[in-house]
Amino acid sequence: MKTQILKKEQTKEAASLIRKGGLVVFPTETVYGLGASAFNPTACARIFSAKGRPSDNPLIVHIASEEQLVQVVGEVPEVARVLMAAFWPGPLSLILPRNNELPEIVTAGQSTVAVRWPRSAQAQGFLLECGQGVAAPSANVSGAPSPTTFDMAKGAMLGRVDGILMGEDAEEGLESTIVGFEDGKARVLRPGSVTIEQLAKVLSVKVESLVYLAPTEGRPLSPGLKYAHYKPAAEVRLFRSVAELPLLAESAEKVGVLLLASALNRQPEGWTVVQFKDLKSYAKGLYASFFDFDRIGCTVIWAQFPPAEGLGTALANRLTKAASGVTPAK
Ligand code: TXA
Ligand code: MG
Repeated sequence: MKTQILKKEQTKEAASLIRKGGLVVFPTETVYGLGASAFNPTACARIFSAKGRPSDNPLIVHIASEEQLVQVVGEVPEVARVLMAAFWPGPLSLILPRNNELPEIVTAGQSTVAVRWPRSAQAQGFLLECGQGVAAPSANVSGAPSPTTFDMAKGAMLGRVDGILMGEDAEEGLESTIVGFEDGKARVLRPGSVTIEQLAKVLSVKVESLVYLAPTEGRPLSPGLKYAHYKPAAEVRLFRSVAELPLLAESAEKVGVLLLASALNRQPEGWTVVQFKDLKSYAKGLYASFFDFDRIGCTVIWAQFPPAEGLGTALANRLTKAASGVTPAK
């Protein structure tokens, strides 16, 4: 398929592809999304094949106005309104009762729909031009890390979509926080850069009450929780302190290392080291570093495991999945 590369200011052209039933990759503040009109089931079906995504994994609908919101949801619980007022537009997706006009394929047959109003001005401009909600998962092939730069998005989706809208590097770099509601109570289904602590403060509840633990059996609240995610080609291994690293110094492999507010006093040959000064820059740079390490042929990536609080919770979640669930000993 021929993919049009559209310049930043060509949001009108990008939206016109969506209105004609096309697939368009577009930037947001979290990660790049792979969009189709949420009201066009044929276009939405193409999202699943472009990504190789299992059909039981529902899509997030992106909106940029109250009018677009009303078109996709049913009755909105009060607690969700509180979160919208505090965090929209922004990196927060809410699981809400679906509007019956929405095609089944978007919600994978569930009675709820995930909705997000992105903060990115470019994304908002594009969504308003589209004139209706845009269903969009992250613009990666299923299982791989989400693209956070135009180059990554292009690498993943060239030839699979009708258009790719150029944009800035994603400001946040991790996928949105997802909040669902059970009996009127909020639960965090996927941590993100809107932190559990921030949500707890706005809702005047305890942090622990928001933590959702996926059941070990049966259907998890969020279908995506059961699939492999965020994996680069290199094997990801995690460590807590740089003192754990020198043991590996003599390896003949090409190694990528991600450091959080720390430094190495010796850098073995074949190691490429990226230092992040804080959690925010680590979150922003994580997937792009995975991408760069893969490109230069690293076989192993050592990534420093952050403390699991604040933004560290989201980072720890993505790193754990990238490392196939193996976390470092305390
Ligand atoms: O930041 C983001 O959220 C990015 C950008 C493009 O907005 N999108 C994104 O979409 O990460 P995706 O498809 O990669 O992840 C969406 C997650 C999946 O784990 C899916 O299972 C869950 O949201 N989800 C979608 N609809 C749901 C629903 N009705 N109930 C529970 N979980 C849902
Ligand atoms: Mg994804």
